[in-house]
Amino acid sequence: MRKIVALGATSLIAQETLKNFAKDKDSFFLIGRNEEKLNEVAKNLEVLGASEVNVKVVKDVCDFKAHQEIINEADKMLSNFDNFFVFYGVLGNQKEMEEDFSKAKELLDVNFISVASFVSIVANKFEKEKRGNIAVISSVAGDRGRQSNYFYGASKGGLSVFLEGLRNRLSFSNVNVLTVKPGFVATPMTAHREKGLLFASADYVGKTIYKAVKKNKNVLYTPCFWWGIMFIVKHIPECIFKKMKM
Ligand SMILES: NC(=O)c1ccc[n+]([C@@H]2O[C@H](COP(=O)([O-])OP(=O)(O)OC[C@H]3O[C@@H](n4cnc5c(N)ncnc54)[C@H](OP(=O)(O)O)[C@@H]3O)[C@@H](O)[C@H]2O)c1
Repeated sequence: MRKIVALGATSLIAQETLKNFAKDKDSFFLIGRNEEKLNEVAKNLEVLGASEVNVKVVKDVCDFKAHQEIINEADKMLSNFDNFFVFYGVLGNQKEMEEDFSKAKELLDVNFISVASFVSIVANKFEKEKRGNIAVISSVAGDRGRQSNYFYGASKGGLSVFLEGLRNRLSFSNVNVLTVKPGFVATPMTAHREKGLLFASADYVGKTIYKAVKKNKNVLYTPCFWWGIMFIVKHIPECIFKKMKM
């Protein structure tokens, strides 16, 4: 039975992922900033079979000084957790961030710096214990910078590189680090976008994350065809790529 700490548990991808673990009767410590939504997610997981569900409201993930205490509380509540998942993230408005860097900094702090801080604390705990699973939602957007979303892309690209290095470090301590790279997923984050053929459901993506955690995978492109798309995108020569409208 897993003891799971989930940050950003109100995200739709989180909800759809955690459902699968609840059916395995796992225990949860859910963290989010919206108490009402968090309690709803907790109730659903209990109905699906979760052994134990605790919730913790954290209004500001960028209050770095509070991170260690939050992780200590989770550890106490679950009597030593062994799985740590990070789902939260913000898309931001590229044009606004180009005009006003303080908005870009906010996004970078939430999507990258705060996640790196939480994960670093948990990495030290798992490394000492010589066991554990870390899974973090990055994005295919981090694989190559594009003019339409390079602040978001940079935050996720930085996160992917961070996780890659951490995976290398923790592979010697029996700790698995999974980087999840979804493509387009139909969630509140993409509600404003027209849904084309490349869009996947959160339900599908959640199932693939569940399976990847259980198989101790390193990197998950979900749906898997994004591996092929990004392989091509990454190999377009820069002199051509910089002229493309993407
Ligand atoms: N949807 C996609 O196409 C797609 C593609 C690639 C990667 N992703 C990544 O998948 C993850 C989950 O997103 P989703 O698609 O499931 O969207 P979502 O349902 O809109 O979830 C976004 C989550 O991030 C939280 N959040 C947003 N801003 C925050 C902040 N400043 N501080 C703390 N929490 C904040 C939200 O909290 P509240 O519930 O309180 O608002 C919510 O839990 C994100 O990391 C996203 O970047 C999504």
